[in-house]
Amino acid sequence: MSSIPSAKGIDSTLALLRNPYEFIPDTCRDLEGDLFETRILFQKTICMTGAAAAEVFYSEDGLVRAGSMPKRIQRTLLGEKGIQGLDGEAHRHRKRMFMSLMASERIEALENTTRDLLDRYARDWQAAEKVVLYDEVREILTRAACAWSGVPLPEAEVETRTAQMTALFQDAGAVGWKHWGARLARHRAERWIAGIIERVRDGSLQTGQESAAHVVATWRDLNGELLTSKVAAVELLNVVRPIVAVSAFIAQAAHALHRHPEWRKKLKDDEGQLEPFVQEVRRFYPFFPAVAARVKRDFEWRGYRFPEGYRVLLDLYGTNTDARSWDAPQEFRPERFQDREDNPYDFIPQGGGDHHKNHRCPGEWIAISQMKAFCSFLVNAIDFEVPDQDLDLETGELPPMPKSRFIMRNVRRRQ
Ligand code: HEM
Repeated sequence: MSSIPSAKGIDSTLALLRNPYEFIPDTCRDLEGDLFETRILFQKTICMTGAAAAEVFYSEDGLVRAGSMPKRIQRTLLGEKGIQGLDGEAHRHRKRMFMSLMASERIEALENTTRDLLDRYARDWQAAEKVVLYDEVREILTRAACAWSGVPLPEAEVETRTAQMTALFQDAGAVGWKHWGARLARHRAERWIAGIIERVRDGSLQTGQESAAHVVATWRDLNGELLTSKVAAVELLNVVRPIVAVSAFIAQAAHALHRHPEWRKKLKDDEGQLEPFVQEVRRFYPFFPAVAARVKRDFEWRGYRFPEGYRVLLDLYGTNTDARSWDAPQEFRPERFQDREDNPYDFIPQGGGDHHKNHRCPGEWIAISQMKAFCSFLVNAIDFEVPDQDLDLETGELPPMPKSRFIMRNVRRRQ
């Protein structure tokens, strides 16, 4: 058996923090392979990239999620004891809860809520001197996510809850005061949502049976018991928070439309082009760099031994831009999705494998439908100017966003 190639130096934490999207693929390229060994946060870690690596990551029984996520990510982005850390039957059972929210009529209902909000917001945009698109989208999606999930959102709380949801996904990977801000946001958001769960349970809050609040509040685990209100809050936030996070993909989509004006016209002339366009945005723009698992029992892959206890990181962005799977991967070319067969391992912006059996994101259809609704609105429903501004992507951020957050001026509603 060969030994796994090692990265330079003893610990790669700083190199990964400095270059979260390129560190794994660049190191793999330097070492001429799909994987290497290093230490991250003092722990022995195997980093992997590419479709073949994704296939083993999602199909190998020796890999588990329990204990794989760094505590700092659990205390901000994900919360503790939610689905992300479950394995086996407990995971599959909890996953049914999330998948039950994803019927096509429900995804359409969320899209309609967003479209109504967009109509309302665009009226104010016409009177505004400037519109910062990313900020508006975050607020629209916070309202839409809460309404759709059965979570009451008083008008006076819209700004605070939008800021809390944003801190959870935008500042989770940060260090210093931003990280502490994200921890505080998690604490407050969980307290808020646990209160909602308790009100659904005691009947003082009536929500539709199909709403996420109702489904999570009444879900029974494998042992037949309700989730504790803390775990239920983590899971309901696992619905609300990532819907708001789709705002980052939408700002990236606006950036792509601006940089590739020929696609504005294509989308206007043919709604059928929306899907390839948003898929290419999800492939081309970085979002989450990697996902983590842990080796529960030794296994072998391609003659390499994966020793028990090691953490394994699968590179998402590098896999989406791997030249072995994609022609000219650094070029923005939506047409590549026009007649592409689905492959669960080479296009993994929201994880790979099977939605029901693996940890693949159950919210992919929501992300796609929301992105399509916003893109369609930007090209068909309004005219606007894009003044001079710094549209470079802020590479120090996760996910990288246009530095100016995409400013529009002279917004006019088309009749
Ligand atoms: C901004 C768009 C989104 C991105 C980039 C994203 C990305 C991801 C990624 C990378 C994973 C982990 C996959 C893995 O561990 O293998 C994941 C899991 C998950 N996502 Fe998303 N997601 C997005 C939107 C959504 C939405 C809209 C929802 C729900 C409404 C959602 C709910 C979840 C849940 C519950 C999990 C855990 C699944 C499991 O552990 O089985 N996400 N997502």
